[in-house]
Amino acid sequence: MEDQAERLREIVRQRGPAGSAGESFSGGFFGPPAGSFAAVQAPVESGRQAGPGKGRRAPGREGNARIITVTSGKGGVGKTNLSVNLALAYARLGKKVVVMDADLGLANVNVILNVIPKYNLYHVIRKQKTMRDILVETDYGISIVPGASGFSQIANMNDDERQNFISELETLSVADIIIIDTSAGVSSNVMDFIAAADDAVIVTTPEPTAITDAYGIIKIIATEYETPNMGLKLVVNRVRSVAEAKKVADRMTNIAGQFLNLKVDYLGFVYDDAVVSQAVLRQRPFMVIDPKCKASLCVQHIVDRMEKSGLGPSGGFGAMLNRLFGKKK
Ligand SMILES: Nc1ncnc2c1ncn2[C@@H]1O[C@H](COP(=O)(O)OP(=O)(O)OP(=O)(O)O)[C@@H](O)[C@H]1O
Ligand SMILES: [Mg+2]
Repeated sequence: MEDQAERLREIVRQRGPAGSAGESFSGGFFGPPAGSFAAVQAPVESGRQAGPGKGRRAPGREGNARIITVTSGKGGVGKTNLSVNLALAYARLGKKVVVMDADLGLANVNVILNVIPKYNLYHVIRKQKTMRDILVETDYGISIVPGASGFSQIANMNDDERQNFISELETLSVADIIIIDTSAGVSSNVMDFIAAADDAVIVTTPEPTAITDAYGIIKIIATEYETPNMGLKLVVNRVRSVAEAKKVADRMTNIAGQFLNLKVDYLGFVYDDAVVSQAVLRQRPFMVIDPKCKASLCVQHIVDRMEKSGLGPSGGFGAMLNRLFGKKK
């Protein structure tokens, strides 16, 4: 999805500063890569609205599923792994969790979980299948909604398909948590989902390009969408130390606050951990392969923080559908 990331950079370049001049996210503020930290340190530190166009408001909370989108500016920073393993951590808390795959790329949720779905959201949009038909129960106590090719069709629905699609999406509201794994960058369907969610988790690595592109996404959210209730959260993935993570997070949150007047919560970090790539190769989640590895403990910690942060006044699936489609549930 590098082309999406490139498009994001272009949009951010064209748009210029949001409101005030002078912000420089392409190097200056973020400085050099935080690459010279020592090797991994031990235990984990305890550590919206629909449619482009500013001004759409989020209605009040109606449903009860918490919608979490996981996104990034740059591709390959760890969204899919984080989405799936966050889902597992939530499932271990006894929650009913659905992962919706909105990643238009290749290495998506079903690959990591070693399932080969026959149908996806495309078939629901075209009214060939119901949500129940396409939902895949995995061996890990979480379900997935295969979305890939369907997501590119969302903008092309006619009224009849849209109405049907909304009803089908509503059937997911029995879940406690819906995690939407998005592709990197700024495909407008994906941006709408991000902006409509309760929580948008932005993933970056300490790499300067990843940070710059993460900032680009945050900036687009700030300038394109009116987001009074959406919780914007940051996860720094593949870090080698707590200090490295904190340095990245401090820069991002400070700049978002200073130049975009947007509050971004630092949710936590995930260590760079060889278990993650082994897990990908074995097509099993790292939380399953080694629940006590550094990456797993970090994900556990992130879920603990999410649970503590609770929900704002707006949220839930019905509210998300309103924001996405402007329809009352
Ligand atoms: N914490 C980590 N430690 C070590 N390797 C990691 C970690 N997180 C991700 N990776 C590596 O990065 C690769 C890409 O991860 P993933 O597919 O989750 O990224 P993505 O952001 O979903 O990518 P895309 O933008 O293509 O959808 C993984 O296959 C894994 O090898
Ligand atoms: Mg992915």
